[in-house]
Amino acid sequence: MKIIKNYYYLIRNKILKHFIGAYNIWDIYGGHFKVTYRGIPTLKCPFDYVMYQMIISELKPDLVIEIGTNFGGTSLYIADLMEAIGHGEVHTIDIEDRTEKTLKQHPRIKLFTNGWKNYDLENTSKFLKIIVIDDASHIYEDTLETIKTFSKIIPVGSYLIIEDGIVSRLKRAKLLNGGPLRAIEDFMKTNDCFVVDNKYCNMFGEDTTFNTKGYLKRIK
Ligand SMILES: C[S@@+](CC[C@H](N)C(=O)[O-])C[C@H]1O[C@@H](n2cnc3c(N)ncnc32)[C@H](O)[C@@H]1O
Repeated sequence: MKIIKNYYYLIRNKILKHFIGAYNIWDIYGGHFKVTYRGIPTLKCPFDYVMYQMIISELKPDLVIEIGTNFGGTSLYIADLMEAIGHGEVHTIDIEDRTEKTLKQHPRIKLFTNGWKNYDLENTSKFLKIIVIDDASHIYEDTLETIKTFSKIIPVGSYLIIEDGIVSRLKRAKLLNGGPLRAIEDFMKTNDCFVVDNKYCNMFGEDTTFNTKGYLKRIK
């Protein structure tokens, strides 16, 4: 089965390359699993990787909450950016701990390993400018619940970033019951405090991000 699947991807990529050019979304998706930061895996599309540092330097947040740490490459990247600015803290949440010493000893990173449902929002009470990044299960129900929970602590002008709506374009959203994009659409139907920020979603062309429609900016 795996051989047939790999063969299918190989042929499909060759056809796509022939018709639309040197690389395509599946190449980028494949590559994003190989991205590391300071040697630590960081599952990030290169476009989003660039945009994250823009957001950090533009907003200079007091706190970034990352839901879904994995090995922690993204937490480390954000914490190092904060170190360069001299401001901010990262709370990174997972259901297990795959992180190494570099993460554990970083002065700007706090690890939480009991899942986002057990993260006490009281932990955010001393912070004003908060950004939340949801990069956990990507299942529709989880994502919608996360959005509803964490949208409450985003101040006006800041972001709730919902990762990996790209799964819809990659035809994998069905496995996630509609995934992040469905959750974003449902949330936006009932909420007028957030807008999809096209500055980031469309920076390199329409939907040139893995966080499709996922840069949610609080406007009121
Ligand atoms: C896509 S990976 C995160 C990648 C990471 N943000 C990065 O940029 O390298 C998804 C992670 O979400 C975690 N996860 C799954 N359910 C979770 C939950 N309820 N709360 C927090 N993290 C969860 C998984 O254990 C996994 O490590």
